[in-house]
Amino acid sequence: MRLSRYFVPLLKETPSEAQIVSHRLMLRAGLIRQEAAGIYAWLPLGFRVLRKIEQIVREEMNRAGAVEILMPTLQQSDLWRESGRYDAYGPEMLRITDRHERELVYGPTNEEMVTEIFRAYVKSYKSLPLNLYHIQWKFRDEVRPRFGVMRGREFLMKDAYSFDLDQATARRSYNRMYVAYLRAFDRMGLVTIPMRADTGPIGGDLSHEFHVLADTGESQVYLDRNLIDMPVPPETIDFGGDLDPIVQQRSALYAATSDVHDQARFEAEVPEERRMSTRGIEVGQVFYFGAKYSTPMKATVTGPDGKDVPVEMGSYGIGVSRLVAAIIEASHDDAGIIWPEPVAPFDLGLVNLKAGDAKTDAACGDLYASLTRAGKDVLYDDTAERPGAKFAGMDLIGLPWQVVVGPRGLEKGLVEVKNRKTGAKEELSADEVVNRFAK
Ligand SMILES: Nc1ncnc2c1ncn2[C@@H]1O[C@H](COP(=O)(O)OP(=O)(O)OP(=O)(O)O)[C@@H](O)[C@H]1O
Ligand SMILES: [Mg+2]
Repeated sequence: MRLSRYFVPLLKETPSEAQIVSHRLMLRAGLIRQEAAGIYAWLPLGFRVLRKIEQIVREEMNRAGAVEILMPTLQQSDLWRESGRYDAYGPEMLRITDRHERELVYGPTNEEMVTEIFRAYVKSYKSLPLNLYHIQWKFRDEVRPRFGVMRGREFLMKDAYSFDLDQATARRSYNRMYVAYLRAFDRMGLVTIPMRADTGPIGGDLSHEFHVLADTGESQVYLDRNLIDMPVPPETIDFGGDLDPIVQQRSALYAATSDVHDQARFEAEVPEERRMSTRGIEVGQVFYFGAKYSTPMKATVTGPDGKDVPVEMGSYGIGVSRLVAAIIEASHDDAGIIWPEPVAPFDLGLVNLKAGDAKTDAACGDLYASLTRAGKDVLYDDTAERPGAKFAGMDLIGLPWQVVVGPRGLEKGLVEVKNRKTGAKEELSADEVVNRFAK
C-alpha cells in the first residue's frame, strides 16, 4: 500500500480526552475515531489489526471444534422474557421499538438466541457435543464508557456457546475453550492469566476470566507469579483428548479477581515472594452454567436412556475490539505502538527518504514490488514529508520492521533495516532485504 493513496490520519497533538496510553496511541496513530460516547469508527490501520485479531480467534475456535455462525445484532425482546433476563439486565441493554411497536434489543450477548436456534434443530444427544460461535458487534450501554475501545458501548466480541448432554462432557467443552483461549492470546503476543472469577449476571458454577497484566487494567487481580511463565499448549494439542491436566495445572496455582479473592487462602497457598497483586485487563471469559437457560427456554435433548433432559451449556466471550487496546497497553514505548508481528497492520514499512529523486524512487519501487511478491504486506511511505516526520510516523504506527531507503545509502548499494521493538539497525543490500523477509 502506498501511503500517498492510503488513509492514515496521524494526530500531532496528544488528545486530551485520552487517559490511558493505548487510547492516546490509537487516536494519534489514526486507528480509530470516536463517533459518539463509546462508539468508534475503525480507520484503515485499526481495522486491519481488528481483522487480524478476529482471524486468530477464528482459527483457534475452529481448531477447538467450534462452528462459526453469524447471529444478528438485533434480537426480539420476547426471547429475553423467556429466560427472565429482560428485566434483570437493566439499563445496560439498549431497547428499541420498531415501526410496528415490536420490542427489540441490540444484543449485549447471545445466550437466548443461540438457545433458540439450538432447540429448533437439535433433539438428540447424538448431535452433541456442539459449540456454536460468532464474531459480532455487541451493545452495552455502559455507565462510564472510557479508555477508548477498552470499554466501549458498541464493541466486537467473539462469543461461543457449548451444548452437552451432561456435566462431565460440558466440562470437556469448557476445557477446550480454556485451552483455545490460551493459544489465541499467545498467538497475539500476549501473556494472559486465567483467573477464578465471579459468574456475574450470566450466572453459573464455573468461570475463569483471562487477564492481561497491566497497570492500566480495570480489575484488581491476585496471582502466583509462576503462572506467568507457564508454557502454552502447542498447535498440535489434541482437542479430542483429555485437556483436564492442562486446566488443572494452572488452576492449582492461585489466581483470582478481587470479586472472589480470598486473602487468607492467598497467603496460605502462595509463598510471599511469588505473591503478586496487580491490575488486569479482562480480554476473555469462560463460563459453565449448566441448565440456566435451557431449563426456562425448554431446550432439551433425548439422552441414550430415552429421557429428555435440559441441555448443559457454557458460554465463552473474547473482547476482540478490546484486545486491540490491550495489546498496545502491553506493547509500546515512548515513540509509539510496537505491534507483535501476528497482529501488525502491515508486516513492514518502506520509507523513501527522498521521494521525487529518480534513483530512490526506482529502488523503493523495486523493493516494494519484490516484497509484495514475496507475500509481505508493505506500507510504502512514498510521500514528500521530511525524513524526521516519516521516522516519527513509522515509529508511532509501530510496524515490526522499517526498511529505509535514501540516496546516500544507495550510493553504497545499501538500505537500512530497523527492528521497531529492539531499535536494532542493519545495513543490507536490496536483495538481502528481500531474501530476509521472503523467508
Ligand atoms: N464495554 C466493553 N467494551 C469492550 N469490550 C468489552 C466490554 N464489555 C465486555 N467486553 C469484552 O467482552 C468479553 C466477554 O464479555 P463479558 O460478558 O465477560 O464482559 P464483562 O465481564 O461484563 O466485562 P467487564 O467486566 O470488563 O465489564 C470480556 O471479557 C471483554 O473482553
Ligand atoms: Mg466477563
